[in-house]
Amino acid sequence: MTDSKKLWGGRFTGQIDPGFARYNRSFGFDRRLFEADVRGSLAHGEGLRAAGVLNDAEAAEIRRGLHELLARAEREGEAFFDDEAAEDVHSFIEARLTELVGDAGRRLHTGRSRNDQVATALRLWLRDEIDRSAEALRGVQAALLDLAESHADAVLPGYTHLQRAQPVLFAHWCLAYFEMFARDRERFGDARRRLNVMPLGSAALAGTSYAIDRELVAKELGFDSVSRNSLDAVSDRDFCVEFAAAAALVMAHLSRLAEDLIIYATTEFGFVELSDAVATGSSLMPQKKNPDALELVRGKTGRVYGHTFALLTIIKGLPLTYNKDMQEDKEAVFDTADTVRESLEVTATVLRNVRLREARARDAASVGYMNATELADYLVRRGQPFREAHEAAGRMVLHALSKGLELHELELEELQEFSPLVAQDVYEALSLEQTLATKSQSGGTSPGRVREALAAARGSL
Ligand code: ARG
Repeated sequence: MTDSKKLWGGRFTGQIDPGFARYNRSFGFDRRLFEADVRGSLAHGEGLRAAGVLNDAEAAEIRRGLHELLARAEREGEAFFDDEAAEDVHSFIEARLTELVGDAGRRLHTGRSRNDQVATALRLWLRDEIDRSAEALRGVQAALLDLAESHADAVLPGYTHLQRAQPVLFAHWCLAYFEMFARDRERFGDARRRLNVMPLGSAALAGTSYAIDRELVAKELGFDSVSRNSLDAVSDRDFCVEFAAAAALVMAHLSRLAEDLIIYATTEFGFVELSDAVATGSSLMPQKKNPDALELVRGKTGRVYGHTFALLTIIKGLPLTYNKDMQEDKEAVFDTADTVRESLEVTATVLRNVRLREARARDAASVGYMNATELADYLVRRGQPFREAHEAAGRMVLHALSKGLELHELELEELQEFSPLVAQDVYEALSLEQTLATKSQSGGTSPGRVREALAAARGSL
């Protein structure tokens, strides 16, 4: 363990209180920014060299030292970060660098503050994480598409109020979630675009007095542009909130998908069977198979919502510019990124292994008067105003209910008592196939439309 000298020692004569030192420390978690911060330092060193602040030899020493640190972290793993004295990842890197390259290491912080440094590192780190999450989103979308395509003819009862409503194709249900995740991917893309602006060069708050070519540094780091206002740049954490909010919506969608599948996997519904790979048993009840993976996805949604709100609350009421409150952004962002990615990956695994019980789902979609709307539409096609047709069909449902029969099990004469417009072809209209086929406008669940939608979805991936 090596001692990291404080970065701000000169003005101080007294010792820091150990309890406060612990409280103040962020190295326990911001070490995750290590690589991103080193990348930022490499680019900053190059900027200083190009500006003539560092000579070629110093710049080369810094480069060598920083690369050595990356290699050591890779080689030594956790042990490399075992430094009780380091306040944060930035002081840790500077201390290690100075041990390695001496004086040159002490020149790297020229024209830079931890304020623009941390904002830069966090943006770099989060940019990679957004890309990983977007990829995980694609994974779930691909799993949904594969599932839909392998059950192209399967039917499911559609619900409103969790009451049987109208039958839909199973693929249509899959594609509903596909759409949600497509919007989520767009949102990640939007957040990434606004995040990809470089704060470095803003220094503490006022900008830097060294002639650093910020555009050059930005290019080196893959930023699209440089921040336009130094005060804003060091105090802006909008990008964290945007990411968390986008992640919160991903979790909302995952949670709804989880809830649908949890319900469908019950004995009562029985439309799907979850794989043993993503379920657990009970220590007491031998028959149990619990959908833990999906329950955890649903449960972890709460923490991502919480992080989103925490981030909003942290920045609320902060005077310009940097305030130490902002150190609290890290754990919220880290945990959000971990949670959303892992939840996406687990969900993809669930989807890749779920078994659809096609016959049972089809049977369920064929009973419970899910063709009553069809009956009303049939009467409308025969000239009746929809309101009256709805009323007549409702009375036929009541009659069927009293006899314990489905609509299509009633005799033609019985149906005609409620409406003289009913003819023999009503039975075809009431069939499951017709019920589906008539939903043929764009966005509907007719087999033709769903086939088109599947092809379009495939293309968009
Ligand atoms: N650990 C700090 C953070 O996460 C780094 C920036 C510190 N800057 C400062 N002026 N104290 O926000």
